[in-house]
Amino acid sequence: AFAGVPLLSQLPELPHIEGADPKRNPLDAFRVAIAEQINKALPEVKLQAAFEAVQTTAKDGDLVVALPRFKLKAKPDELAKKVLEQFKPNAYMESLAHKGVFLNYMLPTTTLTQLTLATIDALSRSAPDANGIRKMSYGTNKSGEGKRMIVEFSSPNIAKPFHAGHLRSTIIGAFLANLYEANGWYVERWNYLGDWGKQFGLLAVAWKKMGSEEELRKDAVTHLYNIYVAINKEAEENPDLHTQARAFFKKMEDGDEEAVGLWRKFRDLSIKKYEQTYARLNIHFDVYSGESQVRKESIQEVVEKLRESPYCEREDNGALLIDLKKYKLEKAIVERSDGTPLYITRDLGEANQRWAKFKEQHGKGFDKMIYVVASQQDLHLGQFFKVLELLGYDYADPKEGRLQHINFGMVLGMSTRKGTAVFLDHILDETKENMHDVMRKNADKYEQIIDKERTADIVGMTAVKIQDMTGRRGNNYNFDWSRMLSFEGDTGPYLQYNHVRLCSVERRVAETDGIELPPSPLDISQLKLDLLTEPKARDLTLLLASWPDTVKTATREQQPSTIVQYCYKLTHAVSSAWEVLIVKGQEKDLALARLFMYRSARHVLNAALRLLTIEPLDRM
Ligand code: ARG
Repeated sequence: AFAGVPLLSQLPELPHIEGADPKRNPLDAFRVAIAEQINKALPEVKLQAAFEAVQTTAKDGDLVVALPRFKLKAKPDELAKKVLEQFKPNAYMESLAHKGVFLNYMLPTTTLTQLTLATIDALSRSAPDANGIRKMSYGTNKSGEGKRMIVEFSSPNIAKPFHAGHLRSTIIGAFLANLYEANGWYVERWNYLGDWGKQFGLLAVAWKKMGSEEELRKDAVTHLYNIYVAINKEAEENPDLHTQARAFFKKMEDGDEEAVGLWRKFRDLSIKKYEQTYARLNIHFDVYSGESQVRKESIQEVVEKLRESPYCEREDNGALLIDLKKYKLEKAIVERSDGTPLYITRDLGEANQRWAKFKEQHGKGFDKMIYVVASQQDLHLGQFFKVLELLGYDYADPKEGRLQHINFGMVLGMSTRKGTAVFLDHILDETKENMHDVMRKNADKYEQIIDKERTADIVGMTAVKIQDMTGRRGNNYNFDWSRMLSFEGDTGPYLQYNHVRLCSVERRVAETDGIELPPSPLDISQLKLDLLTEPKARDLTLLLASWPDTVKTATREQQPSTIVQYCYKLTHAVSSAWEVLIVKGQEKDLALARLFMYRSARHVLNAALRLLTIEPLDRM
């Protein structure tokens, strides 16, 4: 349960509007008040419609209403005149101006400041979750309550490199899972491993020739990759190895205990290693599924449906084809001539299994299932969704919008210094080392860092994640070591540095001036927030007030960059406030009011970084 915002009860009462949540979103309070005013002046505009029309803006006023939205017969000028005539300043609105087709509202600084900072403070500490972590609930909303979803992401292939596509899927997918949770959804994080196929036959042959039990236990991911690369080289000269590999895979397919046992050992130890690396990245999965987990019956069921489908045709060579040219999705092979399952048939069977599993566990299927996969697989995902639809699976009806492919562009030039990093933790190790080098360059600061290793690791991972999520996900970007690791400009280290500075201001002022703010949530009637009058304080507060809206926008657009760009705006506003809104050496009430504003900024920056899966640092 959350404490609620005591201040709200002292303000004039607001009508209830669907979708408005003034207790969590301070801007909603102003929007409701504005909607009420518009509805009084223009009774033909319903409260709900008026509420939805109130938007934030970067110019001319704090909140703006575009009159043509209401689709009324009267001209915008006439409508504006009516609203202006009826306007009286109150606790929620200070002034109203009319410009073109827009109504521009200015909010009273006192209410804006008090309500925003009080809300952030009241929602800064929720009840601890299952892991004992108290997440701040300011910024979250309940729009997804009762809805369930799967986010499938990362999905690497055992014994093959963890490439840039997997890295982006991991970063973006983990973010989206957090984002939907912030909107009140029940989210399951699924990893769909490439863990079945002929290559496991060859891997088993390699294991018998050169496997090391010790290496496997130390780091299965790297060891399996190494022996797989080696056996492939040998097999070029010795085709007999391929014959042995086929024989082994056949045993796997037939369920031979020894063969399956070895494969399972490879899989389990690989997952163990993946889990460690994901944990380092502050990411976890609820389910490790994979190509191996698709049951024969599930594949059989779709293949039989396909055989009977009027959309399918049998090729002369025996393969079964589905023609999707009508949908600009080319043709897809759905059954090989030898009957062995394909990538797409496994995906079809797996989707049905997931739907059935949710039905069984929750009484209904999922409301959404997101596949976070690189744009290179646009055609595959398009075909896969279309086939489900054509076969008549209700949950795949595009009108319901349940299935969704979240794609992303390529990472260009992700070569590492040593050129050997093919796995995620090698990439992270190298990032950490490079970050450590950057930190050492500032000798004074470096000496003060308490845990140098951990700091280098976390700031390094922040750099990688922020670089990845700065641009819109559809775009390609260049992997640029020196740029992403810099503490200047819009980078991950810059964001961490700002968070640390926001943490240290309270410590420093306590030491030098003996002024201390009580822990949150606190009694704000003790504070003199009306001392926060400067434009820089107002700009910062308005930005803090728009955090819940930002979360909603990011969800609607499914873009991590919306959150990252917000972090930049916030840190820029904080940076420019430092120079003017000084805390040190100020009279106590003013110092406390400013500290409170900075603490609110810290709470919001902390929440934004966590949403991005980043662990914010308190000290550096
Ligand atoms: N393992 C695949 C690859 O590395 C990605 C899997 C994507 N997910 C899916 N359901 N097909 O290319």
